[in-house]
Amino acid sequence: MMVSGPVRTAPGDQGYDKDMLADTMSTTISEDHRLLINAVRDYARGELLQLDAKWDREESSCCERLDQLYEMGLMGLRVPEDHGGLACPMLPYAHIIRELAYASPAVAVSVSVHTMVCEAVKMFAQDAVRDQLQQQLATPDNLSAFAVSEPDVGSDPAAVKTRAEKVPDGWKLHGSKFWVTNGLTGRWFSVLARAGDTGGNKDLSMLLLDARQDAVERRPIHGKMGIRGSETGEMNLDGAFVPAEHMLGEPGDGLKITLSALDGGRIGIASQAVGIGQACLDLMVSYAKERHQFGQPIADFQAIQWMIADSKTDLDASQLLIDQAALAKDSGRPFTCEASLAKLFASEAANRIAYRAVQVHGGSGYINECRVEQLYRDARITTIYEGTSEIQRHVIAREMLKDA
Ligand code: CAA
Repeated sequence: MMVSGPVRTAPGDQGYDKDMLADTMSTTISEDHRLLINAVRDYARGELLQLDAKWDREESSCCERLDQLYEMGLMGLRVPEDHGGLACPMLPYAHIIRELAYASPAVAVSVSVHTMVCEAVKMFAQDAVRDQLQQQLATPDNLSAFAVSEPDVGSDPAAVKTRAEKVPDGWKLHGSKFWVTNGLTGRWFSVLARAGDTGGNKDLSMLLLDARQDAVERRPIHGKMGIRGSETGEMNLDGAFVPAEHMLGEPGDGLKITLSALDGGRIGIASQAVGIGQACLDLMVSYAKERHQFGQPIADFQAIQWMIADSKTDLDASQLLIDQAALAKDSGRPFTCEASLAKLFASEAANRIAYRAVQVHGGSGYINECRVEQLYRDARITTIYEGTSEIQRHVIAREMLKDA
């Protein structure tokens, strides 16, 4: 159905501010952090956008831009200032991840996973090494990774088989890890391993492994559908040594540390999804205005307008859920449920929006020269990693069903 009246063409020609997305919950984002978000937006759209298409095409690593990310402080976003970081609260952090994802979903997940490990170190590293490790993580050549999944272990981390053998002064790791983001360039790996043999959760410990040793063998996993510029690796650990002081938390805390780190990580992945969705919506809108069929821009058709309207609604609802989770984390309140709500909704919304973006582009959206074709593939992983949608629903439902 065609709707009467022209479709707006000039940006800002009406009262509605389309950049409002960046401003939800705005009163709690400081002026300095707004400037940072805008600087990341300019950098990402100016420098990363073109490269992201190349990384996708060639399946080459976005880590080639790591030096710039360190220079801008983006690899120490959540590290305290006195350890060389930016001490960025979670709310603006989430907006920064969104801006990175708009231009490069691959860079966004790389930063998000590294930040998840920085947070685990901040919260759980032993006093003697915490400051030094945090300082290091914010310094170039110290990319980190989260090594929890294994060939047979994804949704159920309590089932990991990698063993931690007690040796003088530390631990030796034996086993395989799979689906490790930052797995090739990364130096520090937060490895979930089984240090006891009761078969229960208390056998599990989290060890921070320095991968620069011969007992660590790594290989890239190629052939991914999307985020092909993000490194995904598998690793074999054949007696890799971790000094005792690099255990995070106490022996037996491994599963809790994993789940607590993932709570924060899920806010990052939800933000990645919103970045992908926003890029799709912007492309959908501009294409709808320029593409003519039946003698008029396709933006004049209600069918197209509804796809745009539904996408904007999806995006703002996603951002509000992310902001809610980030604010809960910033204020020290429990945020497990809020993080799962954000991850569930934002990741599924990004897939809906990417689907619509391809639909609006028609045949043009189906070829790999078109940005939406890549974004459609990139969006898909967001409902899978750091907990599938089914796991998020499980987490939310059990929070609802808990006894008061
Ligand atoms: N924070 C801290 N502690 C938590 C927690 C949380 N959010 N949730 C549970 N715990 C604690 C519990 O209190 C419990 O502690 P006690 O043993 O002291 O009682 C312990 O952790 C175990 O909790 P549960 O019994 O609830 O654990 P479960 O086995 O039932 O977990 C689950 C259920 C929610 C499904 C959980 O396994 C889960 O989230 N699975 C998804 C895992 C996942 O996201 N995998 C992908 C990760 S890596 C990745 O994607 C790659 C990448 O690099 C991007």
